Amino acid sequence: MNENLNSEIINGEIILEQSLRPKSFAQYIGQDKVKEQLEIFIAAAKKREEALDHVLLFGPPGLGKTTMAFVIANELGVNIKQTSGPAIEKPGDLVALLNELEPGDVLFIDEIHRMPMNVEEVLYSAMEDFYIDIMLGSGDGSRSVHLELPPFTLVGATTRAGMLSNPLRARFGISAHMEYYTIEDLETITKRTAEIFVTEIAEDGAHEIALRSRGTPRIANRLLKRVRDYSQIKGEGIIDREISDLALKMLDVDSEGLDYVDQKLLRTMIELYNGGPVGLGTLSVAISEETETVEDMYEPYLIQHGFIIRTKQGRRATKKAYEHLGYPLPAI
Ligand SMILES: Nc1ncnc2c1ncn2[C@@H]1O[C@H](COP(=O)(O)OP(=O)(O)OP(=O)(O)O)[C@@H](O)[C@H]1O
Ligand SMILES: [Mg+2]
Repeated sequence: MNENLNSEIINGEIILEQSLRPKSFAQYIGQDKVKEQLEIFIAAAKKREEALDHVLLFGPPGLGKTTMAFVIANELGVNIKQTSGPAIEKPGDLVALLNELEPGDVLFIDEIHRMPMNVEEVLYSAMEDFYIDIMLGSGDGSRSVHLELPPFTLVGATTRAGMLSNPLRARFGISAHMEYYTIEDLETITKRTAEIFVTEIAEDGAHEIALRSRGTPRIANRLLKRVRDYSQIKGEGIIDREISDLALKMLDVDSEGLDYVDQKLLRTMIELYNGGPVGLGTLSVAISEETETVEDMYEPYLIQHGFIIRTKQGRRATKKAYEHLGYPLPAI
């Protein structure tokens, strides 16, 4: 997902957004498995004075992939250049980026599954053997240019590992699957953010926000900001369970952390399609969301938490979905 779209730029919040980003493994909460692996590989690369092998980070939006890319560069003690798949329109754009790299640097490509194919092909030799051959010009005046590159680390992030081509996937030596965060980790993240915001938060307040953040740090931080607003105007400025609950109710975030769109999706399945099975495309049109958004942002959490199941015929709402939204179970 595009960083700019996700960052809120209201009242200087973009600046806070930057300060919220953990800079090191020590500050990065959760994702222990990924951290443990990367720590070893980074230490080994540093010991050998080599570039770290290329890293692919995948998982749903807001779980800290971009943050992790910056932590990796920081822990390696190298520079990082950031771009995204759709921003690299032609091979020349990629060449310009690669040309600026110093030995050991990190090139971070967000949404790497959205890179044009002719760019991806140039990347293959760059990743594997640190050179590129490209054709400049066209027709009679065209010539092939060979460019040697310094060893570098490509960090790619994607919300959809399935959309990566096999040759590209095969060139990543390290593959890290980011998981939804535990309630405990989200509590820690919420408390850390509150500290940065100089906002007082009670344990039960952090717990309530964590419960309703869909396993996602970005959502926890966003909810905390809104609860903080609410508590400053309607409460005493301290975030506890009661204030969190009132604020989140106002925001239509329910007790399971499902927001307006999650609820609309489940209600549509139940009311229009009798609980399913219904195809992803049909469902997306029915709730006026893009298929990709439903597949990346909404469905994974709903599936993981047992509100939806995927079948060959399409998606089905589960008993838990009916009960949670207060519908009588359909007669079978
Ligand atoms: N482990 C963590 N500890 C504390 N805060 C975190 C952690 N991971 C992410 N965050 C916070 O959550 C927000 C979202 O993280 P980030 O932008 O890295 O997610 P992302 O996976 O790159 O999302 P997208 O797929 O939308 O690009 C950041 O503002 C960051 O401060
Ligand atoms: Mg990101």
